[in-house]
Amino acid sequence: MHLKGVSPPTMTSTNTGQTRPALIVHGGAWQIPEEMHPDSIRGCRVSARIGWDILKTGGSALDAVEAAVRNLEDDPTFDAGRGSVLNAAGEVELDAIIMDGKTLNLGAVIAVKHVSNPITLARLVMTESDHNILVSEGAEAFALNHDISLCPNWDLIVERERERWRSKDADEDSSADLFPQHPGGTVGAVALDAEGHLATATSTGGTFNKHPGRVGDSPLVGSGAYADDRAGAVSATGEGEALMKVVISKLVCDSLKQMTAQEAAETAIALLSERTGGQGGLIALDNNGDVGIAHCTPYLAYAYVTSDGEISADIEV
Ligand code: GLY
Repeated sequence: MHLKGVSPPTMTSTNTGQTRPALIVHGGAWQIPEEMHPDSIRGCRVSARIGWDILKTGGSALDAVEAAVRNLEDDPTFDAGRGSVLNAAGEVELDAIIMDGKTLNLGAVIAVKHVSNPITLARLVMTESDHNILVSEGAEAFALNHDISLCPNWDLIVERERERWRSKDADEDSSADLFPQHPGGTVGAVALDAEGHLATATSTGGTFNKHPGRVGDSPLVGSGAYADDRAGAVSATGEGEALMKVVISKLVCDSLKQMTAQEAAETAIALLSERTGGQGGLIALDNNGDVGIAHCTPYLAYAYVTSDGEISADIEV
């Protein structure tokens, strides 16, 4: 196992009594091909800037994570929204979750195929329905009823992914390196706003060539994401089948009572590796704004805002 963590900044309270906002985004943890590194870093940086612009002007953590993830969904670099991997039927099938640390309210959508920004639909499920999770056609009917227009599935497909899907049977050995079964290029964001409230958002196209209807960790509360103002906020990425076995995002939040955000992130990734043999990564903020980032995948694309307001973005190797 190679457990990796970065050395993020500690973010403190301001002397005005308000919390200093904090934000981290990720663009997935997988075998990101080298030619995609610049776009992955750039996409994370732009999303962090979008989220930060909301937080620094007094906006809510929920608004910040939704806006940051929408941008990552719109960016075809990532496995979320347009540009996602295709399932075994040659279609994009999307999952997303958003969670409010103040109320523990959450909204999630699963297996939607005609929605370009599933994170916004997930937020509407949270705020405009009596439910937490809606799936496939039911979620899309709900979207239409709430003025979210549906798009053809082919609008979400980019040529890179069409070609990956077409060549999947031609050369299984070489495509396994280039196009791993678990690319894990899920996206996510966690934020702490000036009112001291936390939020998280995670969005994904899931795994390449997945069985239609397969659900990974991302839209499952506690696995793909968790936020609680009393502890922290987490967004996970990687092999969904493994991540959900250890309910990794809730695990990190629970650990924050005993350890720092960075220690909690590393401890959870170590447990994931030890108990499941699976690979993944995560970003975390505790309710002081302290950052945790860890992964046991080859890479993790991420960006966070430093205490002086600068954006630091990288692909951790
Ligand atoms: N972590 C994304 C998925 O497994 O679907």
